[in-house]
Amino acid sequence: MQPLIRVIDDDQMLASAGRCLHERGWWHGPNAVEPILIDALGNELRTLIEDDRLHRAGIGRDLEFQLDREVRRDRIFWLDRKQPAQAAFLEQMEQLRLSLNRELFLGLFEFEGHFAHYPPGGFYRRHLDSFSGAANRIVSVVTYLNRDWRDGDGGELVIFARDSCQVAATVQPRAGTMVLFLSEEIPHEVLPSRNDRVSIAGWFRLNASIGNQIDPPR
Ligand code: OGA
Ligand code: MN
Repeated sequence: MQPLIRVIDDDQMLASAGRCLHERGWWHGPNAVEPILIDALGNELRTLIEDDRLHRAGIGRDLEFQLDREVRRDRIFWLDRKQPAQAAFLEQMEQLRLSLNRELFLGLFEFEGHFAHYPPGGFYRRHLDSFSGAANRIVSVVTYLNRDWRDGDGGELVIFARDSCQVAATVQPRAGTMVLFLSEEIPHEVLPSRNDRVSIAGWFRLNASIGNQIDPPR
């Protein structure tokens, strides 16, 4: 299959992603994902939204899990292989996992990811993606599906430098852009969106869940 995510087979892009992840903990690739895949994913997500299949996202895991509208206001749907675009995306993530392992010797073991819809006013306050003690989410990957996103629509992803309050980058959530960062090290935040904002947030994990104890509730 022709790679629909360029970083998989574009040696230069892959090397740059690997170097950035290693040296500063994050990488940002505009046009990293082919429009044909972005549009197919966007269509599947739109139908899921219309059918009311998304649910409110929470924070923390298991007993600590809570729905906190002051921390995040997005709705999510965990990707599965039942629909073709999601199946294709998951297959591409499998290829990316192998590429990153070759490039960085990370030993990434599996991928999990969900669609996210931030309605107007939606945000996600500054956070890390790996919960303390879990140590299983290693690399975060966010893919944006927003066609015709304009400056002024808000919803930027703010990436902070490692262990710091300093802003390292502000990323517009435009269709085709992909961001990779180290889940345990890079704090980040989604600024309030003024428009419907759609994306896929995912994680390459080091280990399968241990007796389902460290999985986020689905
Ligand atoms: C997340 C997240 C960032 C984004 O879902 O954990 O940080 O830009 N998403 O959607
Ligand atoms: Mn996050």
